[in-house]
Amino acid sequence: MSGTRPCRRVVLAAGAAGFAGGAVALTAGCSKYGDEGADPAPPPKSQPTSAAPSESDGKKQPPPKGDELARTSDIPVGGGKIFKDEKVVVTQPEKGDFKAFSAVCTHSGCLVGEVAGGTINCPCHGSKYNVADASVAGGPAPRPLPPQNITVTGNSITLA
Ligand code: FES
Repeated sequence: MSGTRPCRRVVLAAGAAGFAGGAVALTAGCSKYGDEGADPAPPPKSQPTSAAPSESDGKKQPPPKGDELARTSDIPVGGGKIFKDEKVVVTQPEKGDFKAFSAVCTHSGCLVGEVAGGTINCPCHGSKYNVADASVAGGPAPRPLPPQNITVTGNSITLA
């Protein structure tokens, strides 16, 4: 080092990176040695730590697994309901028997559009899937809709 002594803040703060409490104490020590008038470093601000999905950015996020997808009463017997955000279709082929499948058509990837007449129907090219097992009932779809895991607890259906 040449004749000037490095500011303690520079030397010690580098060693204390990541230790915010230590950085504050060291800053005060530096201003003691003739740095009056210089603004001490502001106290570290806490960073927002929320990584939870938010609708404030305009994108609707699917609920995390474990959140309620639907009430059992939302799903008609012999039919089903499509959850576009989750890309899931839930059916109830028989009373109290709930199934869930991907809502992405196996033909070219459109989202299925309705559940009617005992089938899950794709609006793009007319594929149809049976509500009981999502097997292909018609159209160009090459294979069934893949099953999805759900949990039915009381009257609540959740993605598993
Ligand atoms: S994408 Fe569904 S029938 Fe073609």
